Amino acid sequence: MMNERVARTIGELEQFIATVDDALAIPRQAGEFVHALILGCGAKHGVEIGTSYGYSGLWIASALRENGGTLITIDHDPRKSEAARKYFDSGGLTACVDVRTGRAADVLESLSGPIDFVLNDADKESCIRYVELVAEKLSDRAAVLTDNTIDLADRLAEFVAWIRRRDDFYSTTVPVGNGMELSIKRTVR
Ligand SMILES: C[S@@+](CC[C@H](N)C(=O)[O-])C[C@H]1O[C@@H](n2cnc3c(N)ncnc32)[C@H](O)[C@@H]1O
Repeated sequence: MMNERVARTIGELEQFIATVDDALAIPRQAGEFVHALILGCGAKHGVEIGTSYGYSGLWIASALRENGGTLITIDHDPRKSEAARKYFDSGGLTACVDVRTGRAADVLESLSGPIDFVLNDADKESCIRYVELVAEKLSDRAAVLTDNTIDLADRLAEFVAWIRRRDDFYSTTVPVGNGMELSIKRTVR
């Protein structure tokens, strides 16, 4: 069962994002999937590329905390970072979320591993670059979720083809929300 304080904050944020047009948040069903996935795979060290107002981050951080872990979430818009911090605080998640404001590529380059979970959900043109930047820092069986592979299929086609050609990932589309490419890092023997 979802932590009550987080669940309440998710509800409040859903009301807010219904009033703005720049949230671009994952749908609730996708949030539930991400939460279950993280709980199931036991990920502890999570990275989110594209914080926006913190909607997906609430689902992710809540599950990582259950596993004893933490989330680093990145957005280049300081106004959104600030708003997201307030929602993480309201959900009681401040201690396990590090909100970074900056260009995703710069922040990713600065991170050290291991990383067990990534939500790849910022500028779609950079999805390949972002996976390239984290690939060597991923733990064995880390999960990388890339959003919008169904609703923005044209823009994500190159990414999907690219990741499926790599022998260090097993990748498939999960038809949840806007379509999420689930790519599992594996050690090539
Ligand atoms: C689709 S939204 C993220 C939605 C969020 N994951 C959720 O479901 O609640 C994409 C976000 O990526 C941010 N973004 C776009 N390009 C970026 C970049 N190059 N570096 C950092 N953030 C970026 C935007 O400001 C926007 O808030």
